[in-house]
Amino acid sequence: MELTIVDNYQEMSERAAALVVAAVETKPAAVLGLATGSTPEGMYARLVKLSREGKVDFSRVTTFNLDEYAGLAPEHEQSYFYYMHHHLFNLINIGPEQINMPGCDLENVEQFCLEYDQRIAAAGGIDLQVLGIGGNGHIGFNEPGNQLRVSTHLVDLTEDTILANSRFFKAVEEVPRQAVTMGLGSIMLAGKIVLLASGKAKAEAIARTVCGLVTTEVPASFLQLHRDVTIIADREAAALIS
Ligand code: PGA
Repeated sequence: MELTIVDNYQEMSERAAALVVAAVETKPAAVLGLATGSTPEGMYARLVKLSREGKVDFSRVTTFNLDEYAGLAPEHEQSYFYYMHHHLFNLINIGPEQINMPGCDLENVEQFCLEYDQRIAAAGGIDLQVLGIGGNGHIGFNEPGNQLRVSTHLVDLTEDTILANSRFFKAVEEVPRQAVTMGLGSIMLAGKIVLLASGKAKAEAIARTVCGLVTTEVPASFLQLHRDVTIIADREAAALIS
């Protein structure tokens, strides 16, 4: 694991965007795994700016998003489909046929999940996976517990996560209870992984990810087993690393 500690959110975002740009420069038809949440917003803003300046070209890139709430329509403002189009896809040169989101209707969810991993494999696998981390150590919606799933699956969100995400909804009751997420295996198959963390709410999760035991209680700790992981954390998020 490579750990880069930066001063603040802005610097984290710039470093992360630079890694995405480098991946696309090295391989114009790169396959990118993308994350949502507050953490990567600055990275996306930077990528939009670089794209407008002609410094990165997404015309041949394929994207796969990590997760999506189950049962939210794509046009719902809190869906990750909406988030990705609002923060990135509508603002760069990428077409709908290049974009893959794990949103589906719940009746066909098992088949959809199977096919999502098959689509990633058929695209040649993910070259660069961007991750955030939950305060509870989750990556994607792979929640702490006594077991983790390998492939893309439907998951019941924990109360911690529902509460953390309720800040985006009018009331906690509106937060979906389930999501579709790539599994730990889907994530670990990526060629390179970059995990971003900002703020003291992530400090314990980052310390356990970097220095703790590999345990299903901290899903991000499995990243210790991957050969090419870069963690970019600001000072607050890195504060408890000993
Ligand atoms: P955040 O979420 O970026 O909004 O903090 C990260 C996560 O829960 O994975």
